[in-house]
Order: sequence, then C-alpha cells, then structure tokens
Amino acid sequence: MIVPLVGTLLVGIFLLTYDALAVQRRELEQNMLREGEIYGLLAEHSLSGLVKNPTTPVEQLHERLSLLSDTMRAKLTLLDADGNVLHSSAMEDEGRSTSPEIRALAREARERSPAIRRSGRYQMVAVSPVGPAALARVLAIELDESETLAMLDATRRHIITVAATWMVLLTLVVLGVLRVLVHQPVLELRHKISRARRGDWRVAVSFADRRDEIGELGTDFNDMVRQLRENCQQCEHLHNIHLQQAAHLASIGELAAGLAHEIKNPLAGIAGAIDIIRDELPASDANRAILGEVQNECKRIKKTISDLLNYATPQPPRLQTASLNQTLEHAVQMVEHQSDGKVVRVVRDLDPALPALPHDPDQIEQVVRNLLINARDAISGSGEIRVSTRFVPSPAANRAPVVELVVSDSGAGMTPEQVARIFRPFFTTKQSGSGLGLAVCKRIVDQHGGAISVESEMARGSHFVIRLPVVPVAEKVFTLV
Ligand SMILES: Nc1ncnc2c1ncn2[C@@H]1O[C@H](COP(=O)(O)OP(=O)(O)OP(=O)(O)O)[C@@H](O)[C@H]1O
Ligand SMILES: [Mg+2]
Repeated sequence: MIVPLVGTLLVGIFLLTYDALAVQRRELEQNMLREGEIYGLLAEHSLSGLVKNPTTPVEQLHERLSLLSDTMRAKLTLLDADGNVLHSSAMEDEGRSTSPEIRALAREARERSPAIRRSGRYQMVAVSPVGPAALARVLAIELDESETLAMLDATRRHIITVAATWMVLLTLVVLGVLRVLVHQPVLELRHKISRARRGDWRVAVSFADRRDEIGELGTDFNDMVRQLRENCQQCEHLHNIHLQQAAHLASIGELAAGLAHEIKNPLAGIAGAIDIIRDELPASDANRAILGEVQNECKRIKKTISDLLNYATPQPPRLQTASLNQTLEHAVQMVEHQSDGKVVRVVRDLDPALPALPHDPDQIEQVVRNLLINARDAISGSGEIRVSTRFVPSPAANRAPVVELVVSDSGAGMTPEQVARIFRPFFTTKQSGSGLGLAVCKRIVDQHGGAISVESEMARGSHFVIRLPVVPVAEKVFTLV
C-alpha cells in the first residue's frame, strides 16, 4: 500500500515541477517577442531622424547604433533595399551582405511594419523600416537570449535537483511516519492475535492509549480479548462444576446401584410377606387397610429406587429409524387405561405423513409416559390431554428439519418459578414424587440431539414441546444436569 502511494506522490511532484518550468519557458519566449517589437519601435524612433538626413555624419550614426546596441544587448544592422549592410554595431559586418533569412524579413518589414521571427534556439530577429520609405532602409535587431536561456536552464536544473531532494526526503519522512504510526501497530496486532489464537488470553496491545483510529482499534482488541478471557474463565468454572456434578452423579449412581441391590430383595420379601398376611386376615379386619397402605409405600420405595438408578446410570440411546407415532401410541394406551377415579380424555392429533425418525423407542416412550403421568397428575376430577405430532421442514434459518411432539393438558398449570425449576433433579411438588421424571426426560431428549421446552399458566394447563432432529445425531450429546 505504501509503495504505490509514495510512487504516485513522487510522479505528481515531478509532473508539477516540469509543468511549472515549461510555463516559465513559454513566458520567456513571449517576452522575447514583445521585447523585439518594442526594440523595433524604439530603434525606428531613435534612428529615423538621423537616417533621413543625408548630412548626418557616419560617426553619429555609429554612435547611436552602439548606444542602442548596448541598451538592448543586441546587434543592430542598418540595411539597404538589397539587404546589404550599410552600418552595423559590429563594425566588421559593414559592407557585407546579410543572411538570406534577414533579407527575407527585411522585405516583409518594408511591406508592413516590424517583422519578428525566432531564429535558431537562442536568437530572435526583429526587422523594422527606418526613415522615409523612399530610402528603403531597414534596421535588423538580433537579440541574443542565449545567456538568459542558459540561466533559465541552470535554474531548471537547480529546481529539479531541489525538488528531487525534497521528494526523497519527503518519501523517507512519510515512510518513517507510516512505519511508526501504522506498520508497527499492525505487526504487533498480528503477533498478539496469533498468541491469542494459541490460547494466551493475557495479551494486550501497547498502542490502545493512542488518540486516533489505530488507538481505537487497539482498545477494541484489548476489550475483546478481556471479554474472551472472562468467558473462558466462566466456561472453565462451569466445566469444573459439571465435572464435580458428574463425579457426584457417579457416586450417586454407585450408591443407588448398591442401595437397589441391598433394598430390592428384602423389599420384595417384605411386600410378599405382607401380601400373605393380608390375604389371611378376614375381610372385615381393619388391619387389611393398614397393610394395603404398607404395600403402597413399598411400591413407592421401589419406584424411587429404580428412578434414582435410572437417573444416576444414564444409558446412551440405541437409535432405530422407526415411526414416532407408533412409539407414542404405546405410552398413550398405558396412561389411558390407568384407573385412578379421574375422567381424563386423551386426544391424539398425530401427523400421518410423519417421516421415520431415528430414536430409541424405549427411551422416547419413557419420556412421553412421564409427560402424560405428570399431565394426568395435574388434572383434578376431569380434563383433557392432547398429544400431537407434526413435521417441521425448516424450523429456523439454516436449521435441519425436525419432528415436533407436543403434550398439553388442561390441568392446574405452574407458576413461572416452578417452570424455571422443573427440569432440575429432585424438584417435586408431589408427596409421592421423586422429582426425577422431567430431569430424565430432558437428558434423554438431549441425548437424541433434540430440545424440550414448556409453557404453562396457572389454572389453564401446561404445554410441553419436544423437537427431535430427522437426521441422526452424529455425536451423542450428554448433558449433565
Ligand atoms: N403437566 C404438569 N402440570 C403441572 N405441573 C407439572 C406438570 N409436569 C410437571 N409438573 C411439575 O413439575 C414437577 C417435577 O416433575 P417431575 O416429573 O420431574 O417429578 P414428579 O412428577 O414430581 O416426580 P416423578 O419423579 O415421580 O415424576 C412436578 O412435581 C410438578 O410440580
Ligand atoms: Mg413426574
């Protein structure tokens, strides 16, 4: 960038200098022509009296010619009609015949008034009639401007030398200034960017306090690096939290597995024994109801243990390309036939043209079952649950097509605070709930590369939306909650 800039500057200065000198030269030549004209008139005025008087002594004529010659710094020659030299300020020319060029000019001058012509590079000849026309005398004034022109040439050489020196100096100064003001900061910026790219977030450029655009660039760069450093620290912090949670979950998993092993078998034994005792009691015995309660508690403990086990030991999905509508149907039927004294209508709105979807049918069935049980739990007395599916070819710009699965209910709904917490493990508002249902749902959906979201309003119901990608996820996404 700098080289073409300086080159253009140099050519520009050179052209300007050259043009100024050419103008000066033209003006000088114009001056010479004007000078010739004036000298012609002056000579005519000064000599005509002497020429027309035949008694004028030759010495006086010579004296006048020499005087004029000195004044004009020119050679003066008085010519007859044939162009022969009668008198000349240069005595040696007297009696000789003059050049054909001056003779031609003399003829021209006799017909009109002074004739002027440039002759050669440094000479100009002005010829002017002098005295009465009958005498046919003309005066040739040969101006020699070689000295002036030589001075002009010297001046031109001087100007060009000075201009070239200035151009070189100016170029060096411009290059020096550009180097300090632009080149060095750009090099530093490149160096710092490559360090930042290698992960060194402590870099900062030194020119950020300059009060110009380069300084602003430096400030922006330093701010950007600071922001990235903070984000990076935050990411590291979150990563550490996730690692801790993962370690925590792993230990819960081990604990849960151990507990399940230790509790499951005795619990099955207790439940079986209670069954036997209960069956042996007469139908009217009040203890039958108490034993029924104990049985329910045993079932609850069993469920909590298996939920905990399920949450703490996640299994990666085993993807099969299958019909999602069919997977849903299993879950819906199971919840539909639940008998808990409520009148709940389950409405299906399933898209028949749904493309086959890569998913783990068991896991997705578990997700839908959890959502349907929650919806049923939220309905008191009677209500409606709506299950719908639809294909969304382009959910947003540059996003792959998805299948949308919606479970909505006309139940109690949730407060915004509850909505903010429902995917966290162990959050529950139910007496018998473990609070792990939705946490497991979210993890399964995440592992399928999908997303789950919810909208809810108190006393109006809730609306859960799951989006699953139609193309299989290249890499399983494990989200630690
Ligand atoms: N459809 C819904 N309507 C209203 N509240 C809901 C709904 N679904 C979930 N919730 C709220 O979210 C909480 C968490 O639900 P989640 O399924 O995770 O646990 P849970 O149902 O309480 O217990 P479980 O582990 O047995 O499923 C519920 O206790 C309930 O307060
Ligand atoms: Mg639940």
